Amino acid sequence: MAYRAATPIAEALKGSGRVTLRGWVYRKRELRDKIFVVLRDSTGIIQLVFSRGTPAFDIAERLNMESALVATGTLKEEPRAPGGKELHVESVDWYYVGKPYPINEDAAQADSEYLLDVRHLWLRSRRMQAVLKIRHTVFGAIHEWFRRRGYYEVQAPMFITAAVEGGATLFKVNYFDDVVYLTQSSQFYLEALIYSLERVYTVAPSFRAEPSRTRRHLTEFWHAEAEEAWIGLEDLMGITEGLISYIVERVLEERQDELKLLGRRTAPLESVKPPFHRVSYDEAVEILKKKGFKIEWGDDIGADEERALTLEFDKPVQLFGFPEKVKAFYHRNDPKRPEVTLSVDVLAPEGYGEVIGGGERIYDEEELVDKIKRFGLNPKDYQWYIDLRRYGSVPHAGFGLGVDRVVMWIAGLDHIRDAVPFPRDIRRKYP
Ligand code: 4AD
Ligand code: MG
Repeated sequence: MAYRAATPIAEALKGSGRVTLRGWVYRKRELRDKIFVVLRDSTGIIQLVFSRGTPAFDIAERLNMESALVATGTLKEEPRAPGGKELHVESVDWYYVGKPYPINEDAAQADSEYLLDVRHLWLRSRRMQAVLKIRHTVFGAIHEWFRRRGYYEVQAPMFITAAVEGGATLFKVNYFDDVVYLTQSSQFYLEALIYSLERVYTVAPSFRAEPSRTRRHLTEFWHAEAEEAWIGLEDLMGITEGLISYIVERVLEERQDELKLLGRRTAPLESVKPPFHRVSYDEAVEILKKKGFKIEWGDDIGADEERALTLEFDKPVQLFGFPEKVKAFYHRNDPKRPEVTLSVDVLAPEGYGEVIGGGERIYDEEELVDKIKRFGLNPKDYQWYIDLRRYGSVPHAGFGLGVDRVVMWIAGLDHIRDAVPFPRDIRRKYP
């Protein structure tokens, strides 16, 4: 069939002569003797010209937005056309006339809730195409980076029996005669796996029953997590800044067109190179106080505070040394300063805030059991996790990177749901 041998639009724009193209109607304009159709495929857009009196013209008259077609014609230079070339169509080899398309560019601007309802169609927009391509590069870069450094990719279960990140955001699921939870993080399973493979990573969904709608929270998000034996906080900060810098570098190499289409300024991304700024929690509190925030040592650092902090720096910030109270129980306390944990959050610049959370884990059995009790939790719920500390336990550390947040930041988006093809939040589970 003719449409199996079509040329991608981006390639056609670089070539000349006779080609077959296939795609969807992105725009259409009718003059008396001519119809201009801008055709879209996954690689770009090109203008098609249909002339009255040809059979192709009669078909073009019937095409509306997002109709599909395969057309053959001859490429001509046309400086006014997108990409500088247009295709003078000689034949339409196949087509599928669409119903009136329920999205137009005005609706697109007007009502983002509507665009979420028709997300299955909005994915075809050039904007979503650009985001999805950046997302593709980000996921690829994560795998490249870990694999090149000798991390083994592993998989952890999504059905779990005890909270990693606190009970408040657990989703309950009926499990035959029992109840289980959806995982909030694969961390504990990665901790088990380091005793086999030493350096492991996974890229998987995590689930949080986040009760509020914010710009940076989803109920289902993609989590890139790593765990490594024999390392401490200082090593970990080298790893997180290496990974983030590599992701940004790959997007800058591969996705200039997409960043441009999204109107993303690339200058702030160019400076994302190691070393990042290292700011202790203590220093952060002082900076925030000076900026007029009502914050005391021991308080958590929320989204507004993170935003203010990142605006002080031109690169991502490694915010380390959080108080025990504001971090989950598994974080190792600093032996020199027990009220503080050996933890780090990486904050993306330009106001974006936390994209990574991680730190050293408690590796001593007694210390872990004590802390579980101190946090009002039941050691019985964490039996196998505690068991890991009974047989050749070693110092180790790890982190989790919110992939959707990284895409949001790199693509310069206002809302995390625009970074995801089918977002899920407290109000949205369709389509
Ligand atoms: O800081 P969090 O909660 O840390 C953990 O889950 C650790 N157990 C990870 C680890 O050490 N293996 O989550 C890690 C990251 C956050 O920095 C954020 O980027 C992202 O996951 N994240 C979310 N992204 C979107 N929506 C949510 N509701 C998110 N919650 C966390
Ligand atoms: Mg966190």
